[in-house]
Amino acid sequence: MKAKVFNSLLGLLYIAAIGAIIYLAVYGYEYYMTPIIERPHAELHTSLKPGGIFGHGYGVIGSAFILLLFLYSARKRFLLGLRFGNIRKWLNVHIFFGIIGPLLITLHTAGKLHGLVSISYFSMLAVMFSGIIGRYIYIQIPRDEEGQELALGQLDQKHEELSNMLIENYDISKKSIDRINRMIEPKFSHDSKGIFALFVIITDDIQRPFRFWKLKRYITKTYPAFPPKAIRRIMHLSKTKSLMLRRRKFLGAVTNVFHLWHVIHKPFAWIMIIIMLIHVTITVLMGYKWVF
Ligand code: HEM
Repeated sequence: MKAKVFNSLLGLLYIAAIGAIIYLAVYGYEYYMTPIIERPHAELHTSLKPGGIFGHGYGVIGSAFILLLFLYSARKRFLLGLRFGNIRKWLNVHIFFGIIGPLLITLHTAGKLHGLVSISYFSMLAVMFSGIIGRYIYIQIPRDEEGQELALGQLDQKHEELSNMLIENYDISKKSIDRINRMIEPKFSHDSKGIFALFVIITDDIQRPFRFWKLKRYITKTYPAFPPKAIRRIMHLSKTKSLMLRRRKFLGAVTNVFHLWHVIHKPFAWIMIIIMLIHVTITVLMGYKWVF
């Protein structure tokens, strides 16, 4: 499936799922705000309590989503016969299930958090939020279209290609290319290592719009005859180049931080899943069958 079609489909799924969750949260708002001790008298209690027809349903669908997100691990290791599809797209599906699943489980709990199950719930939230940080680190590591990590040599080659593209397609002088390179090159005063590299990257992301605003002003002044479309393309190429330069500089540091992140992220995922399976088994043994 083409990347554009895939992204549009996923975008629609996000809109539908988040829209439905907001609707359900607003629908049950009064019930969820009622103190737990008074809830049995509430009108929506039979449907929205964790074992109710709706409440239980949120739990079943949310848990199914959580289990489905592990298909990403299977695809990465070619398990369960999963060899097809681009790994980037699989990660995006993982993230979709990793966000929507926990939101549904939150509705399922109806705020009744105690005992062993609450450890699973908070581990789930920890994994979800650490996933967002992980995603930020993940995109700092240069990858090809298939999502495979690029080596330094390939990175330099891409950097060269982008400069040539600017010279050949837009007839930009070598002097201007040097100037553009200087303007887009992230300025780092020292070689930050490990987690500090991450802070430098975040600072660079904050400063980036300002640097590019200056670059656009320079290009429009130096090449006033360029149509807006060409300027947009040049800006796009320059942004790609700038990110590449930064990724090249911090490749080693970011790769180490990402490995460390895995070491923290995975155990929480496993704690969550083990307790979740114990919870589901006990619930089924107690006779809760939902609509089945
Ligand atoms: C309850 C929710 C989640 C669970 C249980 C979960 C679990 C996992 C697990 C077990 C892995 C390791 C995969 C492997 O290497 O085999 C992983 C990787 C990852 N997850 Fe999640 N995740 C969740 C939510 C999220 C969210 C919300 C995001 C992003 C917004 C996210 C982003 C990532 C990223 C970037 C990786 C690393 C991919 C890689 O190195 O190949 N996760 N997750």
